[in-house]
Amino acid sequence: MGRFWDERAAENALYFIDNNASYEDTDEERFWAGGRTTLDKFLELSGVDLPAGGVAVEIGCGVGRLTRPLAERTAFVHAVDVSERMLALARDRHAELENVEWIHGDGTSLAGVGDGVADVCISQIVFQHIPDPAITLGYVREIGRVLADGGVAGFQVSNDPKIHAMPFRERMKMKLRRHGPRGQGDAPWLGSAVELDDLRTAAAEGGMDIENVYGEGTQFCLVRTRRLPR
Ligand SMILES: C[S@@+](CC[C@H](N)C(=O)[O-])C[C@H]1O[C@@H](n2cnc3c(N)ncnc32)[C@H](O)[C@@H]1O
Repeated sequence: MGRFWDERAAENALYFIDNNASYEDTDEERFWAGGRTTLDKFLELSGVDLPAGGVAVEIGCGVGRLTRPLAERTAFVHAVDVSERMLALARDRHAELENVEWIHGDGTSLAGVGDGVADVCISQIVFQHIPDPAITLGYVREIGRVLADGGVAGFQVSNDPKIHAMPFRERMKMKLRRHGPRGQGDAPWLGSAVELDDLRTAAAEGGMDIENVYGEGTQFCLVRTRRLPR
């Protein structure tokens, strides 16, 4: 996964983070403004409040599109990503942010973030790209580990298996095309859906309750969990 996302970062990081943008001519201003509106919408729909003065964890921070507004509204952000190349762009773009630790993750865990340190954890447009739902479920257990008692997580998963399948012939066509985005027929882009029952089990194993599910059955399924007292 790390190599795939490093390649996408080198190819056109902003496009692969927000593919509503044009591949040929990305409007940077629109991209960064979109981070703010996306974070607001995400928090509103998932029902997550950012605790001012709190510590946040972001899973799959990319180039820091959501990290910057998150850092402005919390005391500290542990921003984790599997791609060193995405993180290099993030560090460069947000060099003046002193309250962000950019962490190169192993793609399956929140290693580097301590137990019970976080008041809030978020993840948006990351788990839908993970090819094996078992990895997403492992992340859910990890969220329970890093959250402090009473801490809240909001994360997006896909709950629609249909959107992750692409017929072989179409995948080959994509692979062979000479122009346009690469990699969109590959497993780390196509990703996978998770079942809500499995999510409930993983949340419980991580010591959390699922408090809210928005968009069940869709690609943009937002889940809010709360860490129970240890
Ligand atoms: C579509 S981008 C979204 C970035 C950011 N969440 C945003 O909305 O601006 C997906 C990001 O997730 C990261 N990613 C993909 N798989 C991951 C994994 N298994 N663990 C951590 N990060 C991952 C990629 O490197 C990429 O930066």
